[in-house]
Amino acid sequence: MKIDILTLFPGMFDGFKNESIIKRAIEKKKVEINIIDIRDYTPYKNNQVDDYQFGGGGGMIMMCEPVFNAVNSVKTKDSHIIIMSPRGKTFNQSKALELTGYKHLIIICGHYEGFDERIYTLADECISIGNFILTGGELPSMMISDAVIRLIDGVITDTSLEYESFNDNLLDYPVYTKPREYNGMMVPDVLLSGDHKKIKEYRESERKRITREYRSDLLK
Ligand SMILES: C[S@@+](CC[C@H](N)C(=O)[O-])C[C@H]1O[C@@H](n2cnc3c(N)ncnc32)[C@H](O)[C@@H]1O
Repeated sequence: MKIDILTLFPGMFDGFKNESIIKRAIEKKKVEINIIDIRDYTPYKNNQVDDYQFGGGGGMIMMCEPVFNAVNSVKTKDSHIIIMSPRGKTFNQSKALELTGYKHLIIICGHYEGFDERIYTLADECISIGNFILTGGELPSMMISDAVIRLIDGVITDTSLEYESFNDNLLDYPVYTKPREYNGMMVPDVLLSGDHKKIKEYRESERKRITREYRSDLLK
């Protein structure tokens, strides 16, 4: 999969691309991530990419030409274009899975007061990450890229994905590692029993218990 992220702040992605699982996915060529600086595509003097809004009102608006030019420079027939926007449907795990089906994602990050309305005509879809406003689409674009990339075959071991939260409206089961006892808190005996059938049953029932306790809305 290839992901092109269009942004006014490319430096924000340095850590994202150069750490942990995403770094390894890039090295293993499971994903190619290009961070595209929208400023490189402006036809205006002094790298201008935003301006005041017609009709009055505060905040700077991202202009059409730089964004359209940047998109046109990377768009192919395989591209699926996403605009990060509070007006989109809220992102979730099934959307992450759906997005793994595309060969090429183009993700456009807004900033300041948002986009000139005409920029929305570029989008195959808008995605929001929740009912709150961030300063820009950079963090949302990293969030959805991360959620998608870890689902690509071979990025992380399949067994880690098998029982993850939200796969089937249940949260994940509780996990423990060394030491067996910490400050009087014990690892449940069943996990040390070596009885795989019992461990499986225990984990299934714990998934239900934890979902009931923390996210009973998922069970409705
Ligand atoms: C400060 S916001 C603009 C908010 C806009 N004036 C509004 O009220 O809807 C700047 C940019 O951040 C991104 N953004 C902010 N909150 C977001 C969210 N919850 N989900 C996705 N993108 C978001 C979008 O790309 C947006 O264009």
